[in-house]
Amino acid sequence: MSAKKILILPGDGIGPEVMGEVRRVLDWFQSKRGLRLEISEDVVGGCAFDRHGTPLDSATLQRAREADAVLLGAVGGPKWAKVAYDKRPEAGLLALRKELGLFANLRPALVFDALIDASTLKPEVVRGLDIMIVRELTGGVYFGEPRGITDIGNGKRRGVNTQVYTTSEIIRIARVAFDLARQRRNKVCSCEKANVMESGLLWREEVTKLHATEYADVELTHMYADNCAMQLLKAPSQFDVILTDNLFGDILSDEAAMLTGSLGMLPSASMGEDPAQSRLRPSSAERVSGAQSSRAARKAMYEPIHGSAPDIAGQDKANPLASILSAAMMLRYSFGWAAEAAMLEQAVRAVLDAGIRTADIAAIGVPPVGTRAMGAAVVERLDKLVL
Ligand code: IPM
Ligand code: MG
Repeated sequence: MSAKKILILPGDGIGPEVMGEVRRVLDWFQSKRGLRLEISEDVVGGCAFDRHGTPLDSATLQRAREADAVLLGAVGGPKWAKVAYDKRPEAGLLALRKELGLFANLRPALVFDALIDASTLKPEVVRGLDIMIVRELTGGVYFGEPRGITDIGNGKRRGVNTQVYTTSEIIRIARVAFDLARQRRNKVCSCEKANVMESGLLWREEVTKLHATEYADVELTHMYADNCAMQLLKAPSQFDVILTDNLFGDILSDEAAMLTGSLGMLPSASMGEDPAQSRLRPSSAERVSGAQSSRAARKAMYEPIHGSAPDIAGQDKANPLASILSAAMMLRYSFGWAAEAAMLEQAVRAVLDAGIRTADIAAIGVPPVGTRAMGAAVVERLDKLVL
C-alpha cells in the first residue's frame, strides 16, 4: 500500500502550535505503529495572504486536491481586518471547501466524563452527551448569488446575500445524516426555518421524501432552527444526529460545542462526494487491512472547530486536543484505520482522566499545562497503550 498523503495547513494564530502537536502524534503512529504517511505543509489564510497576496494560492489548492486528506489549523486574526473582503483569511477556507467539494461537515459534540464540570450547564443535563451535527457546507447563504453591497443613492447602500438550496444538494447531505444515524442511535432531527423561508420548506419536503423512500427505518423529526437552539440548552440528550444547512449549522455547532465545556475539544470532518457511494464508516474488511478502496479518493479535510484565537497565539496556551481528535477522525474516515483512531481517542480520554488540562478546560485551583505538554501527555498515553 502506498503512503497516505497528508497536507497540513496550520494557518494563523494558534493553528501552527496545535498542528505541531498533531505532527507529534502522527510521527508516533509512523514510528511505533508503522503507519505510512507522507506529510507536507503549506500556508492558508492570513499567512498565505502575507506570502502570496491571496489567502489560498493556486499551487496550495492543487496540493490539497492531490492529498489523500487535508488537516487544517485555523485562519484569521486582527492583522488582516483591513484587507479586501475577497482576500480575507476566511475566504481561503471557504474556497478550499468549495473547490474540494466538501459538502458534508461532521461536527461531533461529545461530553467527556472528566470534563463534565467544564460545561456551564448542570452535570445531569450534559452527562453522556453525544450529538453529531451534520452541516451542509458548500451551499446556502454562504455561497448563494446574488450577493454584494450596492449603492442605492442618497448615500445609502444595500447588502444582499441569497439563501438557496436545490433538491440534489439537500438529498446528498440528508443521505450523509441518515447513514451516520444508522451507525449511531438511529435518530435524525432536521432543522430549518420552513415557517419563514421557502428554501427551508423545500428542505423539509425533500428530507421527508428521501426518508420515506430510503430511510424509513431511521427515526426522523423536524424542528425549526430557533427551537433547536433552545432545545440544545434545555434537553440536549434528545438529539442524536442534527441535520441542517450551512448557516444554521455554523451557529448550532458552536452552541453544541459549548455544551461540552470548551471549543478547544471539538474536531470536525468535511467530506466530499464518495465516488464509490459507500458509507462513511469503513467496512470491516477495510478495518482489518487499512483502506485500499476508493475511500482514499474521497476528498476530506479535518479541522478543529475553534478559531485562530489570536489573543493567546504563540504563548503555548492553546488546547491541541480538538486538532488531535480531528486527526483521529482522519485516520478513521479517510484511511479506514479505525483501531488507530480509537487508540488516539482513548489516549485523549486517559489524559483527561488523569486531570491534565490546558487553561480553557482547567478546574479551579489546578495549574494548567501548555500546548506542548498536552501533546506530550497524549503521546505518553499512547506509549502506555501499546506496552
Ligand atoms: C466555522 C467557521 C467558519 C464558518 C468561518 C471561519 C468562515 O466559523 O468553520 O464554523 O463560518 O464556516
Ligand atoms: Mg463557525
